[in-house]
Amino acid sequence: MLTSNSDSELLTIGAKNNFQVVDNITDLNGLYLTKKGDSKLSLQALIDNDEISICVDFISAEISHRLKQGHGKNQALAKAIGLNKRSNLKVVDATAGLGRDAFILASLGCKVLMIERAIPVAELLLDGMHRGKENLAIKSIVERLQLRVEDSINYLQAPIEKPDVIYLDPMFPERKKTAKVKKEMQLLQRLHGVEQDNETLLNAALSCATQRVVVKRPKGAEPFCGKPPTHVIETKKMRYDVYMCLGDCRT
Ligand SMILES: C[S@@+](CC[C@H](N)C(=O)[O-])C[C@H]1O[C@@H](n2cnc3c(N)ncnc32)[C@H](O)[C@@H]1O
Repeated sequence: MLTSNSDSELLTIGAKNNFQVVDNITDLNGLYLTKKGDSKLSLQALIDNDEISICVDFISAEISHRLKQGHGKNQALAKAIGLNKRSNLKVVDATAGLGRDAFILASLGCKVLMIERAIPVAELLLDGMHRGKENLAIKSIVERLQLRVEDSINYLQAPIEKPDVIYLDPMFPERKKTAKVKKEMQLLQRLHGVEQDNETLLNAALSCATQRVVVKRPKGAEPFCGKPPTHVIETKKMRYDVYMCLGDCRT
């Protein structure tokens, strides 16, 4: 498990995985991890002549807005994972991405193990965690986050500890996309390719969680892998499909 992000570690991981960590961008035909001075590590690419950049920022306006608007344990995500019934939940976020959902869950008191298999994205997470731990306002939240860099399918088949809840947010095509969001998605797709192992991931999650598996879906979408959930929690923009686990959730 990676738990720190010294620059030399990033450079080593980048070199091993054909990603570059550079200080100065001159060529954006590929994907680049960049870090300038004290600033954030970001993953950049040139897409349709636009420089697109993503980073992990737990202090961002978007996350602050979600924290303010969240209404604590009554918000949809909290209800979906069962926080209105039990506290101190142990959650595995098996598709961690940029860690936004994991951070909200940690802000609600959950211990969250984030798992991300794309190494450049994991590096962004490490960088965000490192900076978050230096910020007194969010330090205690970030300390409830852990990161594993591996395929969740492997981990969930032999977990160190079975989690209460497994959270999945697989990539899906957004309906109402701004040009910027479209390009951020293109950047991630360039990195990930097409995810073809969704069903294996869902089944691994269903046999690992002790209480429930929660899958984030776009409103109106088919259930993930065609498997109907036990119940659904909807918001204006999207929904959470909840699979309750009594013994083995797959049955
Ligand atoms: C849509 S993003 C998740 C966004 C995240 N919920 C957030 O709040 O930022 C999906 C992420 O899951 C990762 N992923 C997909 N399948 C995975 C697997 N089997 N193991 C680990 N990571 C996986 C992808 O690499 C991608 O970064």
